[in-house]
Amino acid sequence: MSTSSTAGGGSRSALPVTLLVAACLVALAAWWIVRAGERRALDEALATYAGTPLPSADTPIDPALADLGATVFDARCAGCHALRGDEKLAPNLAGITLARDPAWLRAMILRPDSMTRDDPVARALLQTYGVQMQVAGGIDETATRAVMEFLRRADGG
Ligand code: HEC
Repeated sequence: MSTSSTAGGGSRSALPVTLLVAACLVALAAWWIVRAGERRALDEALATYAGTPLPSADTPIDPALADLGATVFDARCAGCHALRGDEKLAPNLAGITLARDPAWLRAMILRPDSMTRDDPVARALLQTYGVQMQVAGGIDETATRAVMEFLRRADGG
């Protein structure tokens, strides 16, 4: 008697759980579609900057490229690096474009593993921070250039 009423209660509560799981799956799919669209839009906008040369001291900031770089920074760098406020697990990047030259920065962002192996400055940073920098999924030349423009603007040009 008591066994069958327990079983009945169990199946009555299965419907809301199923609905909840279905709602979560729909929300997840919607989130994924929006994110994929944003990523595609970013990639298309970045593609128009392919081949942009490294900046020199007298290259004016390109605000649109710096805006794209801000999106790249938030998505791919900000988990480890702060630009202001407290340091996260990696060096604070405020002032970095004044401290390092563009070719060094480009190499550090594109190939951090060979830099911490071969470059004495990067090797010393690895010793200090104890974590090997890694950009999840890698980063390409144009996204690197964009994030450098963002950092340049953050440093006041
Ligand atoms: C997983 C964490 C992590 C991510 C993500 C990451 N970094 Fe780093 N980064 C580090 C660490 C740690 C160092 C110090 C060197 C080392 O230990 O490898 C560093 C060093 C640097 C340096 C040299 C800093 C200096 O003082 O000279 C630059 C520039 C830099 N990162 C830029 C970036 C940019 C731009 C991105 C995003 C595209 C990025 N990093 C993503 C962890 C990270």
